[in-house]
Amino acid sequence: MGSEIREHLLALLIEHADQFVSGEEISRQLGCTRTAIWKHIDELRKAGYEIEARPKAGYCLRYQPDRIAPEEIKALLSTRRFGHAIHYVESVDSTQWLAHQGVRSGAKEGALFLADEQTQGRGRMGRKWHSPPRSGIWMSLLLQPQIPLNLAPQLTLMASVGVTRAIRRETGLPVTIKWPNDLLIDGKKVCGILTELRGEQDQIHYVVLGIGMNVNTPAASFPEDLKTIATSLAAESGRTYRRAKLIAAILEELEHVYDLYLTEGFEPIRHSWESFACMLGQSVTAHTPQGPRQGIARGLHASGALLLETDEGVVVPVYSADIRQV
Ligand code: BTN
Repeated sequence: MGSEIREHLLALLIEHADQFVSGEEISRQLGCTRTAIWKHIDELRKAGYEIEARPKAGYCLRYQPDRIAPEEIKALLSTRRFGHAIHYVESVDSTQWLAHQGVRSGAKEGALFLADEQTQGRGRMGRKWHSPPRSGIWMSLLLQPQIPLNLAPQLTLMASVGVTRAIRRETGLPVTIKWPNDLLIDGKKVCGILTELRGEQDQIHYVVLGIGMNVNTPAASFPEDLKTIATSLAAESGRTYRRAKLIAAILEELEHVYDLYLTEGFEPIRHSWESFACMLGQSVTAHTPQGPRQGIARGLHASGALLLETDEGVVVPVYSADIRQV
């Protein structure tokens, strides 16, 4: 089956969910025969969709499985560039790897790489990222910003603002940001962002923005070492979420905040980041590669560094650290 036709058909059914769309209308919009439509409907049913068919009335979408195949996301997407090319696989070692490969095959800015499961998900500082099948969002977005290499940390902070907005918009949950880009709910991590870039001299060649979000993971199913520090959207709210809808929202908010960054610079992003930050004004320990540093988190420097006010009253920038509340 042509995947374009299936995308279009699904988009039409989703747009009219719980309403009947006539076979005549569908074949007019898709430019194919009634028999072809019937075959497409049959394929969608096999993929888990419940579609009621009634003589004269047409077809009505009654239930959508929680799938993240490209057509699911595209049917909900209103971006101009982000997510227009989607590379989906059921299982992969890491979507970061998929994205780096994608660049070698000619992928362009806004291309999205995602999987239902990662077998070797990567976190910051060489850590592993727990990515069990079908319960979360494991995705990597390709960016090609024309900015100097030294500004790259700002992209990670920009991304945390975009993703926070998307979660708040879709779930209403009180997500906050722990510097630089851990998304927390009630002190537990629900989402992490990993930025990897390739560049030379002072020029960024491309950036892969990796986003890992625990969506429908039951609290009890986290491994023991994560149980006290990780959470999921479902564990916090007591309901489940359609991942395709969240992904579309993330792409929309990311595109918006990225365009803002490219046109107006970091300042508006810095303000938004600070409004979502969870530890400002509090005593923290910054575990830097040079050792621990204690102080009060004061805000974000224009470079993206965390501003820490030490016991001597001096404000110093912290560029790389794990931050913990004292
Ligand atoms: C962190 O340590 O907080 C960052 C976690 C980033 C995880 C995401 S999941 C999608 C992408 N693929 C990976 O292997 N890692 C990132």
